[in-house]
Order: sequence, then C-alpha cells, then structure tokens
Amino acid sequence: MKNKIYYASLDIGTSSIAAAISIRKESGTLELISLASQPLRAIKNGIITNLETVSEAIRHVITKAEMIAGINIPPLVINVGSTQSQGFQSHGIVAVAGVGSHGEREVTLNDIERVVEMANSVSVPAERVILHSIPYRFLVDHVDVEEPHGTSGLRLESEVYLVTQNKAMLESLHKVVTKAGYKVDEIILQSIASVEGVIDEEEKKMGTLLIDIGGLLTDYVFIKNNGIVLTGVIPVGSDHITKDLAYGLKTTFHQAELLKIKHGKILVEPKSAPEYMTVPLASQNRTARIPKHVLSQIIEPRVSELLTLIKNQVAKDLKNNNLYTSIVLTGGGALTQDIVEIAEDIFHLPARIGKPLITSSVQEDVYSPVHATLIGLQRLALEKWNRAHKPQHHFSTPHELHATHSSNASRSKLGAYFKNLFQS
Ligand SMILES: Nc1ncnc2c1ncn2[C@@H]1O[C@H](COP(=O)(O)OP(=O)(O)O)[C@@H](O)[C@H]1O
Ligand SMILES: [Mg+2]
Repeated sequence: MKNKIYYASLDIGTSSIAAAISIRKESGTLELISLASQPLRAIKNGIITNLETVSEAIRHVITKAEMIAGINIPPLVINVGSTQSQGFQSHGIVAVAGVGSHGEREVTLNDIERVVEMANSVSVPAERVILHSIPYRFLVDHVDVEEPHGTSGLRLESEVYLVTQNKAMLESLHKVVTKAGYKVDEIILQSIASVEGVIDEEEKKMGTLLIDIGGLLTDYVFIKNNGIVLTGVIPVGSDHITKDLAYGLKTTFHQAELLKIKHGKILVEPKSAPEYMTVPLASQNRTARIPKHVLSQIIEPRVSELLTLIKNQVAKDLKNNNLYTSIVLTGGGALTQDIVEIAEDIFHLPARIGKPLITSSVQEDVYSPVHATLIGLQRLALEKWNRAHKPQHHFSTPHELHATHSSNASRSKLGAYFKNLFQS
C-alpha cells in the first residue's frame, strides 16, 4: 500500500493562531482532515510579544489538530506578517548563451536561471533577507514570451517581484515553533499565502486586488497576468472596529467583539422601527438599551476609512496606471456584514468574499474567510511537494528547474514556486 502524504500549516495571525492538516488525494488534490484554532492576541507591529505564550498556543492548536487527524504533524508551512516586509520589482538581463540545433542562439534552462539570479542580485541591508523571488515575466529580444525555454534570440530579460523581510522577525518565528517542539518547512508572506488560499485562476490573470482584513492589520496584494505586482499592509484591522465600538458604547473590548459579531452591520433599513440591544457597561454593574443602528454608525466610518486608505495607497503605488478589475475581500474582517456592498461602492468594481479553495468532508468550518491564509499555506505545501516529486527529466518549465538546481536555496526555490503556481 502506498504511503499517505500529509501537509501541515500554521497561521500565526494578530488575533488568532490556527493549524491545519490535509491529505493528498489520489487525484493529486487536497482534502482537509483537521483544523484547530484559538484566539491569541500576542503579535503587535509584527513582533511576537511573548514567546512563551505563543509557543504554548502553538502546542495547544497542534496537539488538537493531531488528535483530530490521528497523526503526528509533519513539518509546518507557516506565515510571516507583512508589517516589516518590502516588495519591489527587479529586472535581470543576460546574453543568451545556449546554442540550438542549427547553431543559432537558443534560451536554455541555464540562461533562465542566470537571468533570474541577475534580478535577485540586489543589495539588501544586513538585517534583511530576500524571502521571495517571484519571476513573472520574460522577454526575448524585447518580446514577451510565456515560456522562454527553447526560444531563439540573443537577449533574455526577466521581471521578478522580490520580497525582503526582517531577519530577526523570521528567526523569532522559527524559534517560537521550534520551542513548541515542531519543525518549520517553509515561511511564506501572509498576503501571498492568502492569494493562493482564495483567488482563482481567472482572477489571477485578469487583475485582482486582494484585501485580507485581519485583527490589527490589513494586507493587500494586487495580482495580474499571473504575477504579483504589489503587496502592502495598512495598520488597521477589524479589531479597530471593536475598539471603536467599545469606546462608543462604553463597554469592554470583549463585549464589543460579541456585539460586533452578533449584530454588527453597515447598512440599515431606512425608516424601519429601531431594534434594541442590551449592552453591559464597562466597570459598572449596569446595562444600557441601545438601538442596533448605532453599531452601523460606528462600523461604517471605520470600514470606509480602511477601504479608502487602501484604494489611495494602491493608486499611489501603481501610479494610477495598472488597473485591476475586481476586489476580493478575505480574513476575519471580511465577515463584517455588508462589506461587499461598501467595497463595490468605494472601488466602483465588483467585489466578493474570498473563501478557502479546498475540500473537506470533516471540517465544514474551513469555508470561512478567516482561514484564507491557513489554507493558502496548505495549497503551497502541495505545490511544493508536486514540484519536488516530478522526475528530473520531466522538467517542463524554467521555474521548476530553477527551483531544484539553484544554488541560492530558499529564496530562489520559492520564487520558482510561485511563478509556477500562478501559471498553473
Ligand atoms: N463574524 C464576524 N463579523 C465581523 N468581524 C469578525 C467576525 N469574525 C471575526 N471577525 C473579526 O476578524 C478579525 C480576525 O480576523 P483574522 O483574519 O482571523 O485575523 P488575524 O489573521 O490577524 O489573526 C477580528 O478583528 C475579528 O473581530
Ligand atoms: Mg488572517
């Protein structure tokens, strides 16, 4: 009997921590077999504020995930927040060295590897490392080519999206997982994982802005022609709505969170008779009866502000010229009622909620935008496995070759990985 293949992911977010295990099906797709999560607010400004607490929480969610799956967890694919990451385009250019069967210059896998390495060789400050190198465009003699391998020409160029991240931050993530007693397989930028979690192939091509609204942060990624064009983060998340509610209703954060989830919405029916809710007041043994529409008066400005901030930031970063055609909202904040309507109004584009692209017959709760990152990490783990298990002589794309042969291990590996992914 064949060995079963399992993949594990760990999502360390600003408001919760979650682990998942999937199994590879005969068809080569993923089936989620376990998911465990717990609320944890122990990351501030991208920094783990208490290693011991986070380690303990990791142990707790993984033990639970292991119990549900009935196996020991394999090495983990985990996320790193975008707070201290920097993403930018880089360009590589080389003379084609390969020779075709008629003596003409022809692009070889080696040429492709060199041109990507060339784009990778940017100077990075000592405290940072290149986390991802994602080739998304190749040109041979100034002409765009989808698959440069085997193309005749003299000059090969590559456009690569590079993401750098703070070394200490990656090290502390590593440390916290190791301390809990588990192994790290790969670390992936949160927003890139979310893209893989919820964005479909058509959207990756057409140009989509993904907005992942977490507890304290909102990540955004613009993806077009199967390549990442832009990543960024805004230090406002759905917890800020909760804080506004706590302040406005004079209640605790905990009560405000419950009210937000139970009654929170942005649009109110005009002229309908007011409905009331009971709000326990903070530091007093009293409750107040408050009309529910007050919630929308507090939630609406914060959501509009957040989405407008993103819209303006993206317009600035793209210099107003790289248009996207749709919006996908994900992360726990995407569960805010009526947020799709508000997003469509602000961006003047169609919007939808991004739910995880995975199947599961045991964990129905996985189809929530809260799990976008966690499931994106799973899908990337599967991709990585697929790439590693293709027979050597079956390399069909340059990115795969790059992944396996590059001397510059992890960064090139991931670059190859994503290009590959976004092309599939
Ligand atoms: N049903 C809901 N309605 C509105 N907001 C929600 C809902 N469920 C979760 N949230 C909010 O989503 C945020 C957490 O989202 P999540 O993506 O898990 O964050 P992170 O990745 O930063 O841990 C919290 O601020 C929480 O209040
Ligand atoms: Mg999240």
